[in-house]
Amino acid sequence: MTHLASVHRASEQLHVTFSDGEREAFHHLWLRDNCPCDRCRDPAAGERLLDTIELPADLSPTEVAVDEGLVLDWPDGHRSVLPAGWLWEHSQAGYRAAGRREQLVLWNAATIATDPPHISLEEIDADEVGLRRMLRMIRDRGFAIVHDVPTRPDAVIELAERIAFVQESNFGRSFEVVSKPDPNNLAYTSHRLYSHTDVPNRHSAVNLQLLHCLENTARGGESILVDGFAAARRLEAADADAFDLLRTVEVPWRFRDADTEIHNRFPVIRTDARGELVEIRLNTGIMAPLDASPELVGPFYAALRRFGRILRDPELEHHFRMEPGQCQVFDNQRVLHARAGFDPSSGRRHLQGCYVDKDDALGRLRTLERALAGREQLPA
Ligand code: OGA
Ligand code: ZN
Ligand code: ZN
Repeated sequence: MTHLASVHRASEQLHVTFSDGEREAFHHLWLRDNCPCDRCRDPAAGERLLDTIELPADLSPTEVAVDEGLVLDWPDGHRSVLPAGWLWEHSQAGYRAAGRREQLVLWNAATIATDPPHISLEEIDADEVGLRRMLRMIRDRGFAIVHDVPTRPDAVIELAERIAFVQESNFGRSFEVVSKPDPNNLAYTSHRLYSHTDVPNRHSAVNLQLLHCLENTARGGESILVDGFAAARRLEAADADAFDLLRTVEVPWRFRDADTEIHNRFPVIRTDARGELVEIRLNTGIMAPLDASPELVGPFYAALRRFGRILRDPELEHHFRMEPGQCQVFDNQRVLHARAGFDPSSGRRHLQGCYVDKDDALGRLRTLERALAGREQLPA
């Protein structure tokens, strides 16, 4: 249990000392805005009622005390009580500690082979611990390979629905990856597909991709997965200018066929304000003509070449052959996928795929973590 030892004022902040000696500062506006009482927050919806926009800039508590939590009286007579544990969790040190717990596990061919994220459908179905295990694999390492998924059409949809719900796209609710006449997508040929992410042209959604193998007797067609975040970090270390170009040059990604035309501009590597990797978008097959100035073209292609060669480094590539009943489930914003070309006259190769929004999948994992943590804490 977290407790508070003392609190003292320092201009616009309160300096709080926790019982373990840790000291953290909190701004007055932040404290007032996060009052958990029923008048400031709807108790059922959990959403804020308080008008954040009109909080006075110079707001400062009239009285400050420590009890079960931090007790603050405000000039308008309102009292806020912020529990000690909640304060710790939302302090700068608390956020850092949570960030460390959630750190991604970057991998390469050797490290992923020592403990491949494989799981059987039976384990997933046995109880929620199995589903949590698969979702943790996807969160931490960016993919899972599920075994013993029945080789019947739409079994992939049933697997997707164990996670959350299927995200439809212009390729349908699900799609058949087979070599077919008149394809609207390179995946529907027998050509080699270099490491790529799907649908970089789409603004949002479709972040988890499932590819379920129904048949694979054709010669060739081996699969590859690569950790795009590990590759991006390697690029950054080797050539910071190239990394920066791929972070800043917006590439026009465009898909079009007879029925649709979806295009958007996004950089190949996206980072957030703290420099954390957010996503990789790379599918040279649907890269529309770059609309950057000619002076930028040479450096951009050089940066792309450098990154592409890192992605193709056998030290990073996880190679395997999809057997009927196996299903790849990968985070399409992080892990790139590829396949070797195959000979369609030598046998049949048939995968069925679909997408799930990553927010829904991670949301499912968080609710599972919550439910299972409650249960695992109960005495046996
Ligand atoms: C795809 C794809 C890979 C494969 O359908 O998006 O890349 O192994 N398929 O056929
Ligand atoms: Zn309140
Ligand atoms: Zn693909």
